[in-house]
Amino acid sequence: MQNDNQNREGFSSGLAVFFATLGSAVGLGNIWKFPYLTGEFGGAAFLFVYILCVAFVGVPLMISEFYIGRKTRLNAVGSFEKLAPGKPWKVIGYAGVIAAYLIMFFYSCVAGWVYSYIFKAIRGDFIGITPETAQAQFGTTLSSPWQPIMWQIIFLLVVGTVILLGVRKGIERVTKTLMPLLFILIVICDIRALTLPGAKEGLTFLFNPDFTQIGPLAILTALGLAFFKLSIGMGTMITYSSYFTHDNNMINTATRVALSDLLVSILAGIAIFPALFSFGIEPTAGPGLLFMAIPLVFAQMPFGNLLLIAFLTLTGIAATTASISIIETTTLFFTEQRKVSRKIAVIINLTVIAVIGSLATLSADKTGVLGNVKIFGKTFFDLFDFTSSNILLPLGGLFIAIFIGYVIKKDDFVNELTNDGLLKSEGIVTAILFILRFVTPVLVIVIFLNSLGIINFN
Ligand code: PFF
Repeated sequence: MQNDNQNREGFSSGLAVFFATLGSAVGLGNIWKFPYLTGEFGGAAFLFVYILCVAFVGVPLMISEFYIGRKTRLNAVGSFEKLAPGKPWKVIGYAGVIAAYLIMFFYSCVAGWVYSYIFKAIRGDFIGITPETAQAQFGTTLSSPWQPIMWQIIFLLVVGTVILLGVRKGIERVTKTLMPLLFILIVICDIRALTLPGAKEGLTFLFNPDFTQIGPLAILTALGLAFFKLSIGMGTMITYSSYFTHDNNMINTATRVALSDLLVSILAGIAIFPALFSFGIEPTAGPGLLFMAIPLVFAQMPFGNLLLIAFLTLTGIAATTASISIIETTTLFFTEQRKVSRKIAVIINLTVIAVIGSLATLSADKTGVLGNVKIFGKTFFDLFDFTSSNILLPLGGLFIAIFIGYVIKKDDFVNELTNDGLLKSEGIVTAILFILRFVTPVLVIVIFLNSLGIINFN
């Protein structure tokens, strides 16, 4: 028997709903993945494709997860059991919980690096840094066996503490404070970046529309990014929406979160690229950009160290609020499906993530202790990333679209999203349903086959 959830904790207001959900979407993905991919795949042209992916796949799937979560007021697995009793749909929820762990194994490693960089920046380690010493700093961060693991554990303890405090005193309070702070910090970094001498070239790299770069690969990349960015396909949005207020306009929330998340990504790009160009640093992919180029860039400008601390802090905030949503997903699974206390659930989660996550940390670089250990040709770090982002999230999204499009009764979906007819948005809901039935599954199947190499657009 499921509980009837009468005494369940939930968010206190629409604003809390918005900031918590945005806190999940805004993460490490905004700070390096988005700006780099945008620059690489033709600037504004890629942005245009990405926005279409967010509109036709991201937002409809986010709304679907909202429906499932708020309707049932249950965790990622229990919600499917309630909506489709005795049917195998709950497998989507289990896959989501597994994806949540896999993401945390490598995400907590990178977040640990960010925390350690904040500490080092405050200590003044990056003052007067040169390209060689920047590389060496990052090298020691990666290859020393105990330091990154220690920072990973510190990061997990911070996230675990917030979750232990509960939905209102923990998640709600923290996201409501940190999201506006992140915004202020990013705007400060942007103002500085835009007043640098080479700002124009940086903006050109980011925004100049080059439609020749838009091929199938760019489209698939944009679609994959939309999944990861908006935290969909793994039950995180089901979990958070199970705490939503009854009167929340969920279509509105999804749209506002997607737009705000996009704004943060663009602002992050504006903070990074003009500065890179101004100091003649080649934009590089992934963590390298964040951990080697950024300290270098800030070291060369007046008040650079303070700005570096601001930039790393906002990155740390993004990583923390996103991870809170991921670990809340696995925590709620344990408390509701396995009937353990929140405290025990958090202890189990942190222990599992710290132990297996350390494999990711030790394998993140060739010089690491496990840097040369390969499973299916991939290091632990890459394996966790690939299996979650390229397999489990798209599969989760695909089955959620099918579940909502073909299993759930249309009236039920319309009623929940219009708050029993109070909102006059039936037309929009019908359009969303059409997209979920006919557009989303086709697009997702294509990215999925491509990421598995079954079809190849490269
Ligand atoms: N959206 C986060 C980011 O862009 O960094 C990552 C993420 C969070 C993915 C939560 C999945 C998730 F459930």
